[in-house]
Amino acid sequence: MRGCQVRLWCGSKLPLIGFGTAAFPYNGKGVEQAIRTALEVGYRHFDTAKVYGAEPAMGRALTDAIYKGMVTREEIFVTSKLWGSDHHDPVRALRQTLKNLEMEYLDMYLVHWPAKFKASACYPVPKEDDFEELDMESTWTGMEKCVDLGLCKSIGVSNFSCAKIEHLLDHASIPPSVNQVEMHPLWRQKQLREFCGEMKIHVSAYSPLGAPNCPWGSNAVMENPIIQSVALKHKATPAQVALRWGLEKGASVIAKSFNQERMKENMGALELRLDKEDHIKMEMLDERKLMRGEFLVNGTTSPYKTIQELWDDEI
Ligand SMILES: NC(=O)c1ccc[n+]([C@@H]2O[C@H](COP(=O)([O-])OP(=O)(O)OC[C@H]3O[C@@H](n4cnc5c(N)ncnc54)[C@H](OP(=O)(O)O)[C@@H]3O)[C@@H](O)[C@H]2O)c1
Repeated sequence: MRGCQVRLWCGSKLPLIGFGTAAFPYNGKGVEQAIRTALEVGYRHFDTAKVYGAEPAMGRALTDAIYKGMVTREEIFVTSKLWGSDHHDPVRALRQTLKNLEMEYLDMYLVHWPAKFKASACYPVPKEDDFEELDMESTWTGMEKCVDLGLCKSIGVSNFSCAKIEHLLDHASIPPSVNQVEMHPLWRQKQLREFCGEMKIHVSAYSPLGAPNCPWGSNAVMENPIIQSVALKHKATPAQVALRWGLEKGASVIAKSFNQERMKENMGALELRLDKEDHIKMEMLDERKLMRGEFLVNGTTSPYKTIQELWDDEI
């Protein structure tokens, strides 16, 4: 795994295969054990968010591993995310995240969604009257302050369209290093990847396996006949093909597995090589976005009256 990193414009090095921690139902002991195992298997990038509820368990597992000399803090890359009800004060929210994680700094802090809720909003899913106008200028100033205070090494966004990034870049002093978005062979993000490439923003792929057995996902990627045939051809698995496809498109991938064998299997994507014919076949697959963000759309108080507005017609 060492060496399998991408250098971000800000100088940080992001491991290409990340370890996801969004699991429902939440199970703290399960997260803790999974992170210990993931460290043994070789994962060095750990992705979480306030809203996953996994920060304390991740903190316990990583602090313990550092204490035991298994890794140093500098050898791991930790990402967490700002929830909509914390846009009023990113510094305060990040301080709480760091407390949960028992850490002094994050490697990456992301604005989780382009959506702002009242500080008192129903958590985690906002009620209809919990929405506020998105004011990215003030949210991003707060994110930049997190960097200035040394609370995080770099900042970025998640679930942002090209249009929203363009708007953010108009007033950002520190441009985002990363846009973490849904990306897999059935949701390829061609336009966004090209735009982010031009802006030197790295794209990180979440749900890279299509989130099988997750409330927001499906088996469509893993059971796709083309992906299965490519896997058979290379004596690989559909999961390795899906992950490798993301890596060969220039993205890093964040896969969640709490099972040791599947953790190892997913790491195997680093060894696989797809050929031109594989890419051509996968380019032709029908696309369908899984994580549509319906919970951010309503006809009254949300700034997004439709799904199309949330994604600026890029869906
Ligand atoms: N920024 C955002 O808004 C956002 C949204 C969603 C996710 N994320 C992040 O991205 C991470 C990954 O995304 P995700 O969890 O939605 O989806 P995913 O990684 O595509 O899929 C996770 C599911 O795949 C299963 N799985 C993993 N490896 C497998 C393999 N080799 N073969 C068969 N099944 C396998 C897992 O089960 P087992 O655990 O049983 O292996 C789990 O059910 C999340 O955990 C989270 O950290 C971010």
